[in-house]
Amino acid sequence: MLRPTALIPVIFGLAAFVLTMLCIFAGSKPDFMQDYSIITLNTSRIGTNVLNTTSNTDSNSNIFSQIWDNVTNSIESSINDELNSFAKDLGLHDFYSAHLLDYCSGYYTPTSIPNATVSSSEIEKNITFCSNKTAFFHFDPSVALQRELNNSGVGITLQDLDWPDAVTHGIHTLRIAQKAAFVLYCISAALILLAILASLVSFFVHGRLSACIDILVWILAFLATVLASAVTTAVAVKASNVVNGFGGHVGVRADRGARFMVLTWVASGLCALNVFVWVFECLRGRRRAKRESYVGGIRK
Ligand SMILES: *[C@@H]1O[C@H](CO)[C@@H](O)[C@H](O)[C@H]1NC(C)=O
Ligand SMILES: *[C@@H]1O[C@H](CO)[C@@H](O)[C@H](O)[C@H]1NC(C)=O
Ligand SMILES: *[C@@H]1O[C@H](CO)[C@@H](O)[C@H](O)[C@H]1NC(C)=O
Ligand SMILES: *[C@@H]1O[C@H](CO)[C@@H](O)[C@H](O)[C@H]1NC(C)=O
Ligand SMILES: *[C@@H]1O[C@H](CO)[C@@H](O)[C@H](O)[C@H]1NC(C)=O
Ligand SMILES: *[C@@H]1O[C@H](CO)[C@@H](O)[C@H](O)[C@H]1NC(C)=O
Ligand SMILES: *[C@@H]1O[C@H](CO)[C@@H](O)[C@H](O)[C@H]1NC(C)=O
Repeated sequence: MLRPTALIPVIFGLAAFVLTMLCIFAGSKPDFMQDYSIITLNTSRIGTNVLNTTSNTDSNSNIFSQIWDNVTNSIESSINDELNSFAKDLGLHDFYSAHLLDYCSGYYTPTSIPNATVSSSEIEKNITFCSNKTAFFHFDPSVALQRELNNSGVGITLQDLDWPDAVTHGIHTLRIAQKAAFVLYCISAALILLAILASLVSFFVHGRLSACIDILVWILAFLATVLASAVTTAVAVKASNVVNGFGGHVGVRADRGARFMVLTWVASGLCALNVFVWVFECLRGRRRAKRESYVGGIRK
């Protein structure tokens, strides 16, 4: 006798598995799910306050204007001309999106700042670079930005741009959590697969024991998925708080990836539903077993 109810966890489980794989591989290619980043740094106006020599009339500006005498001509025009990408003039990108396996960067088109004719919803991301896919990847914006500044040959360092040490340290403390998230997603994908197989077995094998084994495996899959989601959410929240708290005055902003969070928490929710389906099956099995023994008792 087949157990049709077992097909619900199989279908939900397949969906949860696909979502978990998407969480791992989202953004791993320039044209693959770039909107599903864990966190996105908007650096399009980085350093505008520091480099704005019209507002900087204090002692600092003397040093700065000396250093930048050679580059300001092109830069200063774009500071006061909000249409251009200021980051581009420094050899940086407009935004940096961190994913589980890599980070991608690019430019906002048609402009980085909404204006009267271009609303913020019309601004799109044009990805021009993705780092190599790496297991145990962790995103370090300070290194990424400094490498691009080095390559640009402008001769400006992150320190010149007043890049806060608090951001460097704050993000650095998250590297273990970011690597752990990768491991947790791999574990939860494996456990979900195992739980799907167990549910398939229970489709053919009737009985309370198999239902109870399914409860156990789905609870494990659920815990792993919730843990992965919680760690990633915590990383995104902490990183965006650090960047927005300390990086605001240098013109850097961070956005948490809402869509990634939807993916990962929906996967957790599907695993939770599967636990409930099997708890229901297990209880139903007990009621049926009781009823059968009762009926049998009367007959004898
Ligand atoms: C530069 O400073 C001037 C004077 O304070 C200010 O009016 C202008 O908005 C600043 N420009 C930018 C891009 O912040
Ligand atoms: C500006 O450029 C000139 C040569 O192009 C160089 O001699 C000078 O040292 C530069 N100034 C700064 C502050 O880098
Ligand atoms: C990027 O940040 C600047 C301020 O730093 C903001 O004005 C702009 O709207 C942001 N752009 C996008 C596309 O979020
Ligand atoms: C808004 O930005 C776009 C793209 O840079 C530009 O073509 C347009 O003229 C701007 N509109 C206004 C009102 O500044
Ligand atoms: C995106 O960037 C590439 C390379 O810089 C450029 O050729 C392309 O036209 C851009 N796409 C859009 C939609 O601006
Ligand atoms: C990325 O991988 C390619 C070959 O797979 C390698 O040549 C390149 O150096 C790598 N880039 C980085 C930044 O590790
Ligand atoms: C940038 O260049 C400086 C020296 O010029 C070097 O110490 C630093 O390691 C470089 N950073 C990166 C990320 O390449």
